[in-house]
Amino acid sequence: MKQDPRFPNLFILNHPLIQHKLSHMRDKRTSTRTFRDLLREITLLMGYEITRDLPLTTESIETPLVTYDAPVIAGKKLAVVPVLRAGIGMSDGLLELIPSARVGHIGVYRNDQHQPVEYLVRLPDLQDRTMILCDPMVATGNSAVYAVDVLKKRGVTAENIIFVALVAAPEGVQVFHDAHPDVKLYVASLDSHLDSHAYIVPGLGDAGDRIFGTK
Ligand code: URA
Repeated sequence: MKQDPRFPNLFILNHPLIQHKLSHMRDKRTSTRTFRDLLREITLLMGYEITRDLPLTTESIETPLVTYDAPVIAGKKLAVVPVLRAGIGMSDGLLELIPSARVGHIGVYRNDQHQPVEYLVRLPDLQDRTMILCDPMVATGNSAVYAVDVLKKRGVTAENIIFVALVAAPEGVQVFHDAHPDVKLYVASLDSHLDSHAYIVPGLGDAGDRIFGTK
């Protein structure tokens, strides 16, 4: 895991397997099916890292040899919240790791000024729940900031929010950091910059289109 001195709340998961798979995703020749599979695989690897601090408790079990106080995850309530629509490509992998997690949805699209416009918010009971927001791309950062605002406005505290993305642009991370310095942002790569159409460079194109095979 790498950090960038400019953004103390940013964590870059630069594991070789994640980087290798991400390079295949960036390649424009990669098919929709492979792109989706790779995103799921990377999300599993990222999920392993972001759940590292989940509290453990013990449960008494009988092994074939002895009675043993075995470590198990304490009953922490979790929810996975994809930012629609591309976030769906990451929530599947996260739910494989945490099958009992609740699922929320935040639907936002970018208007012509690249500002987020909300069209759907459906969330589970938020009381004492850790919310894992996911969206593959943090480009301008506006949708990511908006999604965190949605949770904070409903009373979720910063320490109970984690944002997971695949690729981020420094411009977007700056916007996110300015708005929510108290929320951890995990990414697989901090790319170079945004182009004039707010696409991440080198990036991987439109994540939603590549996940769903749309244009
Ligand atoms: N959203 C994407 O899917 N790709 C980008 O490069 C920027 C925003």
